[in-house]
Amino acid sequence: DVATSYPDPVHIAVIGGTGLQSLPNFTLAATLNVSTPWGIPSSPISILHHPSPTTGKPIPIAFLSRHGLNHELAPHEVPSQANIAALRSIGVRTIIAFSAVGSLREEVRPRDFVVPDQIIDRTKGIRPFTFFEGGMVGHVGFGDPFDEGLAKVVRKCGHSLEGEGVTLHDKGTLVVMEGPQFSTRAESNLYRSWGGSVINMSALPEAKLAREAEIGYQMICMATDYDCWHTTEDVNVEMVMGHMKANSENARRFIGAVLDALSAQEHSDLVSAKHLEGQMKFAGGIT
Ligand code: ADE
Repeated sequence: DVATSYPDPVHIAVIGGTGLQSLPNFTLAATLNVSTPWGIPSSPISILHHPSPTTGKPIPIAFLSRHGLNHELAPHEVPSQANIAALRSIGVRTIIAFSAVGSLREEVRPRDFVVPDQIIDRTKGIRPFTFFEGGMVGHVGFGDPFDEGLAKVVRKCGHSLEGEGVTLHDKGTLVVMEGPQFSTRAESNLYRSWGGSVINMSALPEAKLAREAEIGYQMICMATDYDCWHTTEDVNVEMVMGHMKANSENARRFIGAVLDALSAQEHSDLVSAKHLEGQMKFAGGIT
């Protein structure tokens, strides 16, 4: 059964990336087809019921597959405005986003997780990247592109799984490139010289749009390859998918732990993004 809305506000969302197109261990409560002024999202939104670890009461969690249900959208085709607007319209104030990344550092080995704290934007400005245009002028701060409060929760959960084979790096600078082609070796080495830790094609404009929508946003990266600086062998999709598949159990365990932690404080200021309210400063136009 497909609906267009859910009776209760859904505060927490997970955006799944390559290799994490669904969360099968959760109870599906509803499937929503949401449309927005910016079009329709990458996939229907699944509402999953996650039992609160404190009360046992089911907490609704939204899940959206960034590349579509069958991975049919390339990174530059993802309708990020529609994705963020659709999630915001059902009440989402906290997003945990997953992404496969290439490693730019020896110590970040394939299958390691990274909680990035910075971004370098190497997209080409061809993806629609703002809600503020067409007469409405707005500027948001983006000095810290991720939500440090969410990052703390995520890091704690990741470290609690260290005995179960999860290796987590607490910080890192994420380079976001346009793609869909991977980098040249000269580019890969340049990003290393800039201090880049990992690289993907997906955190932007998602993180910028989430900030504009006053939604707390944290990405969890899983390394699926060493980018081409490392070897003479080029990165390929089989490599990315292979590591993703082999480590998907850890990714699911990780997200389960994060959802436990966030559901336990579903109504806290952190999850309801109270700290982001009123951040938007309008410069004029339609207000
Ligand atoms: N996603 C996964 N691996 C990647 C890489 N090496 N470069 C860019 N995006 C990626």
